[in-house]
Amino acid sequence: MTSITTTTVQQMKNHQKITCLTAYDATQSFLASSQGIDVLLVGDSAGMVIQGHNSTLPVTLSQMVYHTECVKTRNQGSLLIADMPFMSYYTTEKALNNAAKLMQAGAQMVKLECGFWAIDTIKALTEQGIPTCAHIGFTPQSIALWGKPKIFGKSKQESMQLTTLACELESAGAHLILLECIPSDITQSITKSLSIPTIGIGAGPHADGQILVFYDMIGATTGQTPRFVKNFMTQTSPSIQEAIAAYVHSVKSNEYPAAEHCYSSI
Ligand code: KIV
Repeated sequence: MTSITTTTVQQMKNHQKITCLTAYDATQSFLASSQGIDVLLVGDSAGMVIQGHNSTLPVTLSQMVYHTECVKTRNQGSLLIADMPFMSYYTTEKALNNAAKLMQAGAQMVKLECGFWAIDTIKALTEQGIPTCAHIGFTPQSIALWGKPKIFGKSKQESMQLTTLACELESAGAHLILLECIPSDITQSITKSLSIPTIGIGAGPHADGQILVFYDMIGATTGQTPRFVKNFMTQTSPSIQEAIAAYVHSVKSNEYPAAEHCYSSI
């Protein structure tokens, strides 16, 4: 069994697309990692898809630790990233203490939803040996600011801000940048500006990798889904294993996301 590390995932940039999927339990972890998913994210989307809330805000650090431990047990070698939940990293000291708990539970990297304010935190985590994924664009933990999901980077000012933020996060030591709900051309220019990989969700085909929520990927959804969601569980891939394999193939071969899954600047 080969294990994907922070270094190997970074080396995939410009060579092969990176496949990522969320996982919350041991079975999802086993199924996804044994079908060739490069990165498993223990997402705080657990708040919505596991707990049934309408946002990620109620998720606690101890719940994230629990899910990370579950995912770790049956992981067959994917890089394991854990989300830092709402308000668990608003000071650098809090971030260091709480990231340590996720790393001790089995995470190999932590993900933080970032603005310019998070740059010092990313630097401090990196200095203490904790790899980071910086999530920018639409950041679900700030949903209360907008009321509903929003596409980021449509205006010249917003797209320049996003590019500057991504570059500053890279300089601070971030190992991956996750781009959510961003027009495809902006993702392309951010991805070209960075030497670390970008992972996209609703960010078009030019990101270095793609991520989906496990349940969205198999069409097990309870309401309206965003345009970037694709159900890979079809007549030709009727089992969960086959759906994951179809998702991996589609991302690696640049078939997903297609034009209908993307947002444009205009
Ligand atoms: O929590 C999550 O699942 C995420 C992905 C949607 C990127 O952050």
